[in-house]
Amino acid sequence: RLCKNCYLGASKRPRNDAGNKVTVVLGAQWGDEGKGKVVDLLATEADIVCRCQGGNNAGHTVVVDGKEYDFHLLPSGIINPKSISLIGNGVVIHLPGLFEEGDKNDKKGLKGWEKRLIVSDRAHLVFDFHQVVDGLQETERQAQEGKNIGTTKKGIGPAYSSKASRTGLRVCDLLGDFKDFSTRFKNLVQQYQSMYPSLTVDVEDQLKKLKEFAERLRPMVRDGVYYMYEALHGPPKKILVEGANAALLDIDFGTYPFVTSSNCTVGGACTGLGIPPMNIGDVFGVAKAYTTRVGIGAFPTEQLNAIGELLQTRGHEVGVTTGRKRRCGWLDLVIVRYAHMINGFTAIALTKLDILDVLDEIKVGVAYKLNGKRIPHFPANMDVLQKVEVEYETFPGWKTDTSAARKWNDLPVKAQNYIRFIENHIGVPIKWVGVGKSRECMIQMF
Ligand code: GDP
Ligand code: IMO
Ligand code: MG
Repeated sequence: RLCKNCYLGASKRPRNDAGNKVTVVLGAQWGDEGKGKVVDLLATEADIVCRCQGGNNAGHTVVVDGKEYDFHLLPSGIINPKSISLIGNGVVIHLPGLFEEGDKNDKKGLKGWEKRLIVSDRAHLVFDFHQVVDGLQETERQAQEGKNIGTTKKGIGPAYSSKASRTGLRVCDLLGDFKDFSTRFKNLVQQYQSMYPSLTVDVEDQLKKLKEFAERLRPMVRDGVYYMYEALHGPPKKILVEGANAALLDIDFGTYPFVTSSNCTVGGACTGLGIPPMNIGDVFGVAKAYTTRVGIGAFPTEQLNAIGELLQTRGHEVGVTTGRKRRCGWLDLVIVRYAHMINGFTAIALTKLDILDVLDEIKVGVAYKLNGKRIPHFPANMDVLQKVEVEYETFPGWKTDTSAARKWNDLPVKAQNYIRFIENHIGVPIKWVGVGKSRECMIQMF
């Protein structure tokens, strides 16, 4: 019997096996929203936790049983001894950084992480010289334009540039013919040296170290696409993707050029892991109850005053990767709504509500005005973004310690009103509210 619409017999037609759905956790502001903590919460039940983009520019702090773990390249789910962690093809990997991070956390009690980690053979490598070049480019920007980006100097921009210019080297190259790898490595070094004559690289020493790293890495490497395909189409599995960086740092949608070099929005989960869009399930946006930013660039709700200082000190707003103080300001719902336009969040995790506990009044940016007129979109041009006037809603502070709240009814009514306003304004339900660093300090709303 032939199918009406195709020439294959019904029994021979391929089965449309939709497969498992993947849950994605993404930053909805300029990073450091508490993605690591949300992932840690969900990872207790996950089978696989993946990173899909970025590198060790990310810094995710997770507090479990009073112990603080910092992750940069490792998915935060690595804490869960029952789940597998996967570093996807969209990630750029600095091998010395990866092993240093693992060993450091091993000393804190994270045992057996190497056995639980899988690395895609298609992931690109970040070399030490990429990191040096990152620094040189920052100096050049400062000299030419009077300002830099304030990168993490982890070599992220240069490594993604090598990838885009098709001279980059991948994990599969490192594990293949080492002679061939060495030749391509030398060519890449030469290319950068012709751009930056001051760049010195001890090629032989680098290759020796890379060869050692290759052998330590080899047991973890898989064909990432096939691994994900099997995970999606095998028995039911809970698969989690941990976004790094955030929507406003996205190379396409962020506050360009003050952005990172990867897609930190939902598309990055598909391209960075080989996941078809139909397998994307929940997309959780993580937003702080106020706003922070590390590095340079426009920040319309920034508070360069006592409020900003209070948020910085109470929130311990210091970058995990660079140790820089984070810039602080009121919650900007224009950017969170913009992040929602791109990502289609199914729910939001609102973190660090407890930091606002002492304020007399709390403001929320709800719209931008240009020349006195509200604009419906988020400006692409940074000069324009620098000029917008923010329209605020003002809320009375609750002046109550919320850190012991464990359910909705434990929160003061004024805090509940603040949360409901945010939810209505974004048009996405808030599923969690964070009131402290540790796992328990997360109120689940539904
Ligand atoms: P990520 O990069 O998005 O994972 O976030 P970071 O780890 O860089 O920064 C978030 C910081 O806030 C970490 O130090 C967390 O331990 C902390 N944190 C997360 N959620 C909460 C919360 O609800 N309350 C408080 N006080 N701290 C939180
Ligand atoms: P997590 O995952 C905050 C910022 C840097 C800089 C710009 C470009 O912890 O939220 P890069 O080194 O990526 O070329 O730097 O992006 N940046 C972050 N800021 N959190 C992050 O990650 C960030 N990753 C990059 O500060 O302004
Ligand atoms: Mg961070």
